[in-house]
Amino acid sequence: MTEKMKNIVILISGAGSNMAALIKTAQEDNWDGLLGARVVAVISNKPGAEGMALAQALGVPTQVLDHKGFASRAAFDAALQTLIDAHQPALVVLAGFMRILTPDFVAHYAGRLVNIHPSLLPAFTGLNTHRRAIEAGCTVAGATVHKVTAALDHGDILAQAVVPVLPCDSAETLAARVLVQEHLIYPQAIKALLQVL
Ligand code: GRF
Repeated sequence: MTEKMKNIVILISGAGSNMAALIKTAQEDNWDGLLGARVVAVISNKPGAEGMALAQALGVPTQVLDHKGFASRAAFDAALQTLIDAHQPALVVLAGFMRILTPDFVAHYAGRLVNIHPSLLPAFTGLNTHRRAIEAGCTVAGATVHKVTAALDHGDILAQAVVPVLPCDSAETLAARVLVQEHLIYPQAIKALLQVL
C-alpha cells in the first residue's frame, strides 16, 4: 500500500529566509523519497513579500491572499483555510507569517501547525524580542520551534537553539546570529515532526 504524500504548506509575510531554508533542506535531503513529504505551496498575506520570488526560484508555487481585502480577521482566516486545505496539507508551517490567528483557524490545524519564534520561549513572546533580550541583560538568546495554540507564542516546544548575547550586540547583530540557527533548527524540527505525523 502506498502511503499518502505528506504535503507541506508554508505561510510567509516577508523575507522568507526560513521558508527558503526549509525548501532547500527538503530538496537536498530528498524528503520526497525518504519521508514522502514535499513543500507544495507558499502563501503570503502580503502581495510584495520578498520571499515569493525566492520560493518561485526554488520551484515552489506561490499564492497571495491579501488580508487587506477582508472585512474581519475571521473572514480572512476562513478564506486562508480554504486556500490551504485545497493542498490537503499534513503540516502547515508559519515562517515569519505576521498575523494573529483566530482560535477557529488554530483549532482546525491542531497538532499540524508550527511556528518559529526568535526568542527562547517562554521568554519574550511577541515582537522586538532581540532588543528586549539585550535590554533585559540576557547573556544568551535564541529561537524556538513550537506547535501553535490559540495563545500567542505558546504551545509545545519542538526545538530550541541558544546563541550568546555579546556586549557589542545591537538588535540587528543579535537577530542575524539567531537567524543562522533558525535556518538549521526549523528544517530539522519539521523533519522530526513529519516522521510522527
Ligand atoms: C524570523 O526571525 C522568525 O523567527 C520570525 O520572523 C522572522 C522571519 O524571517 N517569526 P524570515 O522571513 O524567515 O527571513
